Formats: sequence, structure tokens, C-alpha cells
Amino acid sequence: MTIQPRTVGDTPKGGSILGFYAPKGTPRPPQLDRGQGVYLWDNDGKRYLDATSGAVVANIGHDNPAVVAAMQAQAAKVSFAPLGFFESRDSIELANNLCGLAGDGFDRAFFVSGGSEANDSAMKLARQYAVAIGQPGRHKFIARNPSYHGATLGATALTGDAHSHSIFSAIVPHVPKVPVPWTYRLPDGHSVATYAEVCADALEETILREGSQSVLAFILEPVGGLSTGAAVPPPGYLERVREICDRHGVLLIYDEVMSGAGRTGAFLAAHHWPQARPDMVTLAKGLAAGYTPLGAVLAPNHIVDAVAGQGGFVHGHTYSTNPFSAAVANAVLGEVVRQDLVTRAREMGAVLMEHLQGIAQRSPIVGDVRGVGLLTAIEMVANKKSKRPFPAAFNAPKRLSEHGLQRGIALYNRRANLGEFGDFQMVTPPLTISVAEIDELASLLEASLQDLADEITKAGLPIG
Ligand SMILES: Cc1ncc(COP(=O)(O)O)c(C=O)c1O
Repeated sequence: MTIQPRTVGDTPKGGSILGFYAPKGTPRPPQLDRGQGVYLWDNDGKRYLDATSGAVVANIGHDNPAVVAAMQAQAAKVSFAPLGFFESRDSIELANNLCGLAGDGFDRAFFVSGGSEANDSAMKLARQYAVAIGQPGRHKFIARNPSYHGATLGATALTGDAHSHSIFSAIVPHVPKVPVPWTYRLPDGHSVATYAEVCADALEETILREGSQSVLAFILEPVGGLSTGAAVPPPGYLERVREICDRHGVLLIYDEVMSGAGRTGAFLAAHHWPQARPDMVTLAKGLAAGYTPLGAVLAPNHIVDAVAGQGGFVHGHTYSTNPFSAAVANAVLGEVVRQDLVTRAREMGAVLMEHLQGIAQRSPIVGDVRGVGLLTAIEMVANKKSKRPFPAAFNAPKRLSEHGLQRGIALYNRRANLGEFGDFQMVTPPLTISVAEIDELASLLEASLQDLADEITKAGLPIG
């Protein structure tokens, strides 16, 4: 049966999850029918270039034949077995493959079903490690504002988003936040370098204020996602963060749910800053590239051994390390290696960045472009000189996505912080994208931006 797209709330019962997000009467988005490579088609046969890999997930593109074959083969064998009761060859191979790609210091992998679970698991592993090594006083986390770490209660506590906290702070533990070192819109009187110092100093001040013996871990996205629009750490910042954490015995966790699995042109974004290696890393999204729900925590032997030696990790999920997800993720990693998608992300990232810089020069509403590899974003502004953002209520990213859909380019968008820190649009196509497809992406994106600029002019909103 085909359900015709109408509006949200047009069925008295059920009617999809969309009813949780949009009021009745909101037009429904197109219904997705199929995907191949960097393209998606809706039920009406309209084609969209997937410029963001969905929510920065589809790293190896859609409908990869090797992964589909692995899914079919595993589904025909066995799809589920409980953690701890059985192992599967694939789950052992997946841990070996993943730790091999992650390199030194990432010796063991714990598998879960997504990014939020991975971050919650890292929080609990950090805590249990502190207990195991005789430091039970360490229980506080520090995170950054803005940031996004997920939707479970632990990850919500870590997330720097005033809107989310205006609703949920009553039901999650308080996690102090330190500022993100921006490179575009800086506080008065600051250069990129001096503001990065301020942000690193804020971490140390917060550790001291909270009581250094009580602080357990600091978590950050090494290259930002939606909440900062692919903010890249200024030179020296991560190294100082590492030094501060070391000085106070605080664990450093990198949330690489978005930046991991090759997206930035290194298997982990952490590899770009070898002097600032984290103690733990969390992954999801590109790890199974949308073919199955999967997340992971990577940790060194000394952390896992300490916890295992004290009776074992008091944590786990029904779907942790299930044979189906393990086989699928092995096939995905196999494609990452076979097609050398890490190198490709670096090379195609350079091609994309050149296009984005050209667009920024020509477009009246693109103030900044930034990112590493194929984790890039544009920042939209009402005034390029003053860097003044659009009124928050205008929701420029959502408008841009709507113009994109008309033009045949899918620009996934989820607004962080109600736009308080700016209007970002991720540009994160599958790592398999070709030069010709990047050319097409750039011209569709530029046309959509022009549509938005025209709409703004028509609405009488001042640009420039
Ligand atoms: C950096 C980061 N961490 C964590 C998450 C949460 O992952 P999930 O939605 O798979 O729970 C996301 C999702 O967008 C993310 O971008």
C-alpha cells in the first residue's frame, strides 16, 4: 500500500514519528524510495544528490553491493545472539579491524547501537576505571558549549545546548561547559590564537573550580558537527587541552561519532593531532554507514584491563555486538579499506573546499566555510562584513534545505541551540563521491543559496 504524502497529523492513529516533531498541518517531506551511490530517489521518481550523507552517516554511499550481499548472507545465517553467551567470528574480526585502523592506544572496542549509547558507555567506562584504580572521588564530567553528544540522558547532560537544557536540565546531572575556540566570529579584541588560549584556560579553571580530584573526564568533538558547523580546532588548542588533562589526571574523550571512520581524511580525526591523543574515542554513524545501527567505544588496554580485573564492566545492551551488525560493519570497513576512502575523503575534501570557497566569494549570504576532509560546513550570515547572523526565527538552514529539495539536492539539517551560535549547513557527501558529482553538488548548492538569497530579498530582510 502506498501512503500518499499529505500533511503531518493526517491520520488519526500512527502516521509516523514525524508527528512528534511537527504540528498538524505541516507538509510532509518526500517519501524515500531508494538510493544508489550519492543519489536518492523519492516515490515520485525525483532524484536528489545526497550532499550530507543523511545525518553524516552514509559514508560509503547508498546500496553498496558488497554490503548488501553481506547483510543478506548474515541474515540467512543468524542475526542475533546475546552478548557474553556467544561470540561470533565477525564480532571478533570487527574489533580487530577497527582497533587496527584506529592505531596505537586504541586496543579494545566495545560495541553498542549508536552514538548516544557510545557516549554513555564511555562515561560509564571512565567512571568504573576511576573506581577500579582507587580514585572513587572522580565523578564529574566537563564538556563544551555548544556541542552535541546525543539524546540519551547521559549524552544530553554532556551536550551544550541551552534550548535542550531549558527543558531537560531538571532530569540530567549538571555538566559544566567550557567555550569552543571559534575561528570565524570571535569575541571583541581577540584573534583566533588568543581566543583559543582563553578556551583552553577555561578548561583548567573549571577543573580547579570543580576540584581537580573530583573531575573524571573532558569530552569534545575534535572536529565539530552540526552544533558548531564543522569547527576546526585552532593550532595548539588540542595539545594544550591534552596537557591540562594530564596535569590534573582527567581523562580526555573524543566524540568521533561524526568525525570518525574516515570522514576527515584520517581514520580518526584524532590522527590529525598526534600530540593530543585522547584516552578514549566514541564512534557511530560512518562506522556502519547507515546499513545497521552501530556505535563503538575504543579504549586502551590499561583502562579495559583495570575494569575487567575488578569484576568486569557493569554495563551492556541487548544489541551490543550482535552478529548481524558485526557482519555488516565488517563489510562496511572492508569497503572503506578496499576503496581507500580515507585517502579519498582527503582528496575529494580538497576539491569540495575549493568549490565552497568560490561559492562563499560569490554568494551574498555565505560568511565562512570550514572543515577537514569531507566534514565541511558553510555558515550563512545576513551581513558578511559584520558577520551578523539572520534573525534566529528565520531559520535559514531549514529554508535552504527546502530550496535544496526543490532543486534536487538533499541538505539534511537539524538545528542546534536554536541558531544561537549561527546558521550552519553541513556539506558532507559520501566519501565515495567523484569529482563530477562534487561539481554537480556545488552548482546545486549555489543555486539553492541563490534561491534563499532571492527569498530573503523578497521578504524585505536586509542582506549585506
Ligand atoms: C558528535 C555526535 N555525537 C553523538 C551523536 C549521537 O549519535 P546517535 O544519534 O547515533 O545517538 C551525534 C549525532 O548526530 C553526533 O553528531
